[in-house]
Amino acid sequence: MDLKIKNKVALITASSSGLGKAVALRLSKEGAKVMICSRSEKNILKAKTEIEAKTQGIVRAFITDVTDDNQVSEMINIIVNEFGGIDILICNAGGPPSGRAIDFKVNDYRKAVELNLISTINLSYKVLDFMKKQKWGRIINITSVSAKQPIENLILSNTARAGVLGFAKSLSSQVASYGITVNSVCPGFTKTQRVENIAKAFVESGQGTQEDFYNNLEATVPMKRIGTTDEFAQTVGFLASEGAGYITGVALQIDGGWVKGLF
Ligand SMILES: NC(=O)c1ccc[n+]([C@@H]2O[C@H](COP(=O)([O-])OP(=O)(O)OC[C@H]3O[C@@H](n4cnc5c(N)ncnc54)[C@H](OP(=O)(O)O)[C@@H]3O)[C@@H](O)[C@H]2O)c1
Repeated sequence: MDLKIKNKVALITASSSGLGKAVALRLSKEGAKVMICSRSEKNILKAKTEIEAKTQGIVRAFITDVTDDNQVSEMINIIVNEFGGIDILICNAGGPPSGRAIDFKVNDYRKAVELNLISTINLSYKVLDFMKKQKWGRIINITSVSAKQPIENLILSNTARAGVLGFAKSLSSQVASYGITVNSVCPGFTKTQRVENIAKAFVESGQGTQEDFYNNLEATVPMKRIGTTDEFAQTVGFLASEGAGYITGVALQIDGGWVKGLF
């Protein structure tokens, strides 16, 4: 299926690994000019080299922390000067620490909200003028199933990501007449470095083997397996496509059926 995004400029934040990198690769395969960023120069340059080798596309890498407004502004200015604007924005960031209410103080929530919610709002505001002028745009937020069905030991994620869904839904109706769609995706367990690190910590803490870890996770998923980054990226790619132009304001879980609710 041709996504019809050839030569569109796509900014995918937090994209040196995992879900962000998989989306950048997918959009690059479709001929988009992809702008990727993360905090580590080494990580982001490695991702740039990998994507370029696979697609021979235009890939521009930035060392940008999405919680640092100066760095974000500088990145956006460079992209606008060099490429004319941003057509597709994929808002992603790292996840906040895991834990329950008893584990955190108010300041921990501030940091989580900065990381996952404010970064999304900030990036969206910075691209909207351009998208409005050209009467076309795609904004897609990478959140988590925790935004739809809170996870017991992820109170920071549950809190900040629910805010993203509220912001995106509100914004979607306010910019829809400009041809801009605003959607969120809610990944369930998906095999990335982050999940592999959690598996490693599980083994090191003596709770069981790596196999036990994955068996435990998979038992909670109706499909009895965890997702792949490619499946995730295929879905995000579709939401970024020309053909998805009448889909806006949705929060779509990509989770093998993990979320139990109707919406
Ligand atoms: N994988 C899953 O099963 C799953 C499920 C639900 C939700 N999620 C969420 O989806 C997001 C991506 O997860 P993932 O599994 O792809 O994680 P990952 O493999 O650890 O990748 C995280 C990426 O974010 C970058 N990053 C982290 N903090 C950043 C910041 N402040 N500014 C810019 N870049 C930043 C990292 O690069 P640097 O270290 O170089 O900055 C890396 O490229 C996270 O928010 C995670 O909580 C994941």
